[in-house]
Amino acid sequence: MAEVELRGIVKEYGAVRVVHGVDLTIEDGTFCVFVGPSGCGKSTLLRMIAGLEDISGGDLLIGGERVNDQRAAERGLAMVFQTYALYPHMSVRQNLAFGLENIRMPKSEIAARVDEAARMLKLEPYLDRKPRALSGGQRQRVAIGRAVVREPKVFLFDEPLSNLDAELRVSMRGEIAALHRRVGNTMIYVTHDQVEAMTMADKIVVLRDGRIEQAGAPIDLYNRPVNTFVAGFIGSPRMNFLPCKVTGHDADGLTLQDAQGRPLRAAVDGRTVGEGDTVELGIRPEHMHPDPEGYPVQVENVEQLGGESYLYVRTETGVALTAHLSGQTGLARGGRAFLAIRPEFAHVFRKDGTALPRLRLGELEGDTRT
Ligand SMILES: Nc1ncnc2c1ncn2[C@@H]1O[C@H](COP(=O)(O)OP(=O)(O)O)[C@@H](O)[C@H]1O
Ligand SMILES: [Mg+2]
Repeated sequence: MAEVELRGIVKEYGAVRVVHGVDLTIEDGTFCVFVGPSGCGKSTLLRMIAGLEDISGGDLLIGGERVNDQRAAERGLAMVFQTYALYPHMSVRQNLAFGLENIRMPKSEIAARVDEAARMLKLEPYLDRKPRALSGGQRQRVAIGRAVVREPKVFLFDEPLSNLDAELRVSMRGEIAALHRRVGNTMIYVTHDQVEAMTMADKIVVLRDGRIEQAGAPIDLYNRPVNTFVAGFIGSPRMNFLPCKVTGHDADGLTLQDAQGRPLRAAVDGRTVGEGDTVELGIRPEHMHPDPEGYPVQVENVEQLGGESYLYVRTETGVALTAHLSGQTGLARGGRAFLAIRPEFAHVFRKDGTALPRLRLGELEGDTRT
């Protein structure tokens, strides 16, 4: 087990810098998820930690020791990739044992580790099968098993579930989380899927263009995103944004106006913006519901799923918003509706995209900081 620390980590391919000085501490035993859009540098960062890519600048520490110049095999890590690349001519047992045989581990020790991994990953019935006789999920469990038998200090995963169908992804998500609880090792997991990040992580690191936008506990990122990028990336459907102008502020927050002059309130610290400033009000789909006193919109589409409903609406100023309601709705396409946008659920972002501090959270959100 080990803490992983990145200090000013830089990656350059020739003259092109793709990772711009990343500082991050991943405490021992943490399940840390790197998330962000394709091309933001997740794999590059992971591969530098693994020792599969040279580090162009900065220091990488594992368990307090600088390992920049250590080869991959010396770092005590194990990596699981998206493509599981099992040896097709070997049985599951042989696939699990192969890496250990290569380092000439005693046969009895290998057998014990293979049995333990097979038990942990529920692979015992398949130990004598070849990979082609396994389902996608079983193959991915074997790939994870190959990492488990090495008893690494840190597990690294690069989008390990991307090749699986939706249902299998959900169950494998649970299995990897259970593996983490059982072994307790530090795990670093790369995904572009914010739901995977939210459900698996102790700590989420949101990346964009080779930089960390925000790192923290999933629910803190959801409650207090530092900018419009994180606000839009975490949460599904994504947060709604409504352009507004500041008209005033007091101890309870900001008073705003949309482009038609309709007043709105937000419980945020408004001291760093001035009257007349352009801002964006952010409101999550799950935080709007029909309310006769609410904000007027035109209903463009309704999706009724039985237990929940989605409203796709347009404001008088032409902005498309999505509302996620629990239960069923009597609202119909083409009608007018009024949606509550309550101050304690509102986020406000300055013109440069940075968030104003929220003064309190809505009652559904709670507050993990207090
Ligand atoms: N071998 C390489 N040579 C040049 N550029 C690369 C190489 N590998 C990755 N990149 C670039 O680095 C950036 C980050 O890539 P990557 O880490 O694979 O992103 P992610 O895993 O987040 O999708 C991308 O812009 C990509 O084009
Ligand atoms: Mg990648």
